[in-house]
Formats: sequence, structure tokens, C-alpha cells
Amino acid sequence: MQYEKKFAWSWLLRLYHWAMALSVLVLALTGLYISHPVTSSLTGGGHFPMADIRYIHFICAFIFSGAIIARIYLALFGNRQESLCGYVRHLPANIADAWHALRGYLYIEKYRHDGLGHNGLATMAYFLTFIIALSQIISGFYLLFPESAFWQSWGLAIFGPQQTARYVHHLGMWYFAIFTLVHVYITIWNEIKTPDGMLSSMLGGYKFKERKVQG
Ligand code: HEM
Ligand code: HEM
Repeated sequence: MQYEKKFAWSWLLRLYHWAMALSVLVLALTGLYISHPVTSSLTGGGHFPMADIRYIHFICAFIFSGAIIARIYLALFGNRQESLCGYVRHLPANIADAWHALRGYLYIEKYRHDGLGHNGLATMAYFLTFIIALSQIISGFYLLFPESAFWQSWGLAIFGPQQTARYVHHLGMWYFAIFTLVHVYITIWNEIKTPDGMLSSMLGGYKFKERKVQG
């Protein structure tokens, strides 16, 4: 069997991915501290841990929001693997692909994804993740800037009172924690079981696909 090296992910998609992955990690850890602080008062050395942790949370929140803006740009103007148009145009085929991918991961059938981009199941999971990311951003900025008419109107319309927004924001953290566990498991599974080079494609941009032999 011969394989060819094919370009899959632009530098912007890879930058967005790692910016999001790293910022989510810090956001989840700092968020856990904000919800269950060890101390929220000044410590002996004049430090104010809650203020420091919140500051780190907000820096990462801006990185995370920037990454999501980059993904919106790629959904509109990215290459064939990155743009939303291709996926929507072949929606029925992608839904069927999602079903086979699910059965493949559960060892019920043999499944191999031919395309260069995400399989149908992965795309659905990433789309859901994108929606939850938007929810984290809107609820987060609503909590941060309650005095802003813009964030207040969006926050009130979507979540209602701030306490509800805070609860939804907290639940969002658990979504990201569970998503990351499953996502990293599936990525490593693919790296071991298939010759595509899926994991390294998020670093170098290239995947390996079977060369179609003519005749
Ligand atoms: C996936 C991304 C994020 C995760 C996992 C996350 C996680 C959390 C968690 C667990 C909390 C504690 C909630 C509680 O008290 O129970 C929190 C608080 C908060 N987060 Fe996030 N967050 C994320 C993104 C953001 C974004 C984008 C912003 C935007 C500014 C933001 C702003 C805030 C604010 C203002 C608070 C409340 C701080 C306080 O009460 O002192 N977060 N976050
Ligand atoms: C060491 C940890 C991680 C590795 C090795 C990794 C690897 C990958 C790889 C290889 C892909 C492409 C999969 C494909 O071709 O279908 C991908 C996509 C993706 N990953 Fe990760 N990932 C990691 C952590 C994370 C984390 C923490 C998040 C966010 C919570 C995340 C969110 C995503 C998303 C949303 C996509 C879809 C990219 C797109 O929008 O097109 N990843 N990841």
C-alpha cells in the first residue's frame, strides 16, 4: 500500500487549536479555584490569591475568545477541510458517516474515514463544542462586565439572572473536561490504529492518505 502526504490544516487552524486547548486547561483549573477557593483573603506575604487567579482566568478568557473568532473566520474562509460550507453541502452523507464512525469506535463494524478533514461524528462533536464555547464567552463576559449594556442585554436574554449564567458557566467547564478526555482518547486511538498521522497533523498540518492507483 502506498501513501501520499496531503495538506489538511492551515497554520491559523493549528494556532487556534493549541491556543484553545492550552487556554481551556488554565481556564478550567482557575475556574475550579474561583468556585472553591482555598482562601479569598490576603495571605501572609501580601498576596491576594483570588485576585491573581481571577486575573489569570481573564487573560486566558481573552486568548480563548480570540481563538473562537479565528475559528469563525476559518468556517467562512478556511480551506475545504476547515470551512462549514462543504460539511453542510454533504450533510446526509456526513450524518451516515457519523453513524459508521460511532459504530467503528465501539468496535461494532470496521470503519475507515477516507476524507482529509474530520469524520462526520467528529464534526458534530466539534460543532457542539463551538456552541458551548460561545456560551462560555457570553456568560463569562456577562459575569465580568455586568454594567455594560451590551453584555447585560445578551446575558439577560440568554441566561436570565447572573447566578444562572454562573451556574451554566460552571457546567460548561465540566463539558470541556469530559470532551477533552474523550477527544484525546480518540485522537491517540486513531494515531495507533490508522496510518493517517492524525495527531501529528495538528502540529505539521499534513495527513497521510492511500494513493489511488489508476487502472
Ligand atoms: C472554556 C472556557 C472557560 C471555562 C472552562 C471557565 C470556567 C469557569 C469556572 C468553573 C468558573 C467558576 C464558576 C463558579 O463560581 O462556580 C468561572 C468563573 C468566571 N469566569 Fe470562566 N471559564 C471559561 C471561559 C471564560 C470566559 C471566556 C470568560 C470571559 C471573560 C470568563 C469569565 C469568568 C468570570 C467573570 C467568572 C466569575 C469570576 C468571579 O465570580 O469572581 N470565563 N469560569
Ligand atoms: C494533547 C491534547 C490534544 C491533542 C493531541 C489534540 C489533537 C487534535 C487533533 C489531531 C485534531 C484533528 C482531528 C481530526 O482530524 O479529526 C483535533 C481537533 C480539535 N481539537 Fe484537539 N487535541 C488536544 C486537546 C484539545 C483540547 C483540550 C481541546 C478543547 C477543549 C481540543 C479541541 C479540538 C477541536 C475543537 C478540534 C476541531 C478543530 C476544528 O475546529 O476544526 N483539543 N485535536
